[in-house]
Amino acid sequence: MDNPEKMEKVVNLAKQRGFIFPSSDIYGGLSAAYDYGPLGVELKNNIKKAWWKMFVNTRMDMVGLDAAIIMHPKVWESSGHLDNFSDPLVECKKCHKRFRHDHLLEGSSLSPKHDKAKPVDSDKIVCPDCSGELTGVKQFNMMFKTFMGPVEESANVVYLRPETAGGIFVNFKNVQESQRLRLPFGIAQIGKAFRNEITTENFIFRTREFEQMEIEYFINPKDWEKYFDEWLKLMREWAEFLGLDKKDLVEEEIPEKDRAFYSKRTIDFEYKFPFGQKELWGLAYRTDYDLSQHQKHSKQDLTYRDPITNEKYLPHVIEPSLGVDRSFLAVMLAAYTEIEGGRSTTTKAIKDKEVVLKLPYALAPIKIAVLPLSKKEPLANLSRDILMKLKQNFVCVYDETQAIGKRYRRQDEIGTPYCVTIDFDSLEDKQVTIRDRDTMEQDRIAIDELDKYFENKLG
Ligand code: GAP
Repeated sequence: MDNPEKMEKVVNLAKQRGFIFPSSDIYGGLSAAYDYGPLGVELKNNIKKAWWKMFVNTRMDMVGLDAAIIMHPKVWESSGHLDNFSDPLVECKKCHKRFRHDHLLEGSSLSPKHDKAKPVDSDKIVCPDCSGELTGVKQFNMMFKTFMGPVEESANVVYLRPETAGGIFVNFKNVQESQRLRLPFGIAQIGKAFRNEITTENFIFRTREFEQMEIEYFINPKDWEKYFDEWLKLMREWAEFLGLDKKDLVEEEIPEKDRAFYSKRTIDFEYKFPFGQKELWGLAYRTDYDLSQHQKHSKQDLTYRDPITNEKYLPHVIEPSLGVDRSFLAVMLAAYTEIEGGRSTTTKAIKDKEVVLKLPYALAPIKIAVLPLSKKEPLANLSRDILMKLKQNFVCVYDETQAIGKRYRRQDEIGTPYCVTIDFDSLEDKQVTIRDRDTMEQDRIAIDELDKYFENKLG
């Protein structure tokens, strides 16, 4: 269900608390470009680190790659991106604003009064902004073009990659031979991708510069159904790890007419965002389309010979493709919780609405907040010692201003799992109080035991 208020609250929280800022903010911002702030970069890194750990480091059949963003233009010629990577564009004859025709047909860019349940008649569509007449549909190529070197001429045109997958395909042989890998195996990559989208929308949901986490899992084609199902299960596990509620996720089987022509099966993981149900990630059986194209155009042999059966063939791929920024947005929305009337009853100030960002502890940008009950010595000294020790293993903050209740709420709002409070008794008994974000239970723990305690809790 559409819920623009929730989206607005999350966008505001993201800016105010340093998760995400509009890019070039002091110059009025740049449309649909965003910067990840101090908390955002931690959360984003935690998502990427967890993905890498789950899908690369803890598996026997996966390796990683970090390929260049600017690749040989022939890569994109061979993959078909230069000819086919386009979206249908229409322009308003009156205000000259441009729109994606398919989005207008879905009704997703029409005015809020539009009834989305009713199909839109292509001929009757007018500009959603000024009701002007629209032009006919043209295909608009989304590749970001630039020039390599100082001379801006066609011979020097290069492109920013529109997906990280390209770097994986062209390195298939390098990786397989250097690592002496046997099929099935996968290559994972995390990195930036660029698309000159006709329209951008909904904060970090659709931008022109974004990040992907992609895997190409190379298989013998006879096994494709088995591995497709395996990756489907793994993507469900990943969604659960991120804290996404099953009821907000829809697995959409993409019918043949809507699939990329080379895909034999695609399932989109759609998420019920506050602005509608939209694609979060995709899982595709891309066949041997990419390797066969690169083999043809590069004239290099990209086939694989099975050392046991001696069978020689071009591997096929199963491709789980995930957007980092869309994952980030879904994680923030799933975690954002408002508690009417507040959770604590001790102070009047905390009787009103409370916000808790219930991030999975492994993803929380700050793991521990160190909160001395007094700014003055000797408590400050002891508290800073505790902070510096904990900082060796965990991302921590120090907050000594305002009442302790307010400080707890500030940490709840950014999802910090634990607060360590140092009081005057701590000077005598060498213990501190630890408060858990979700249960609000408090433990009294010896200062010397803190590292072990958090190691157990946070791993
Ligand atoms: N290699 C396959 C591929 O790139 P895609 O469906 O075009 O497939 C994969 O993109 C994922 O990348 C999407 O599911 C989404 O999470 C993310 N993504 C694509 N375009 C995006 C954009 N303009 N802004 C943010 N994320 C985007």
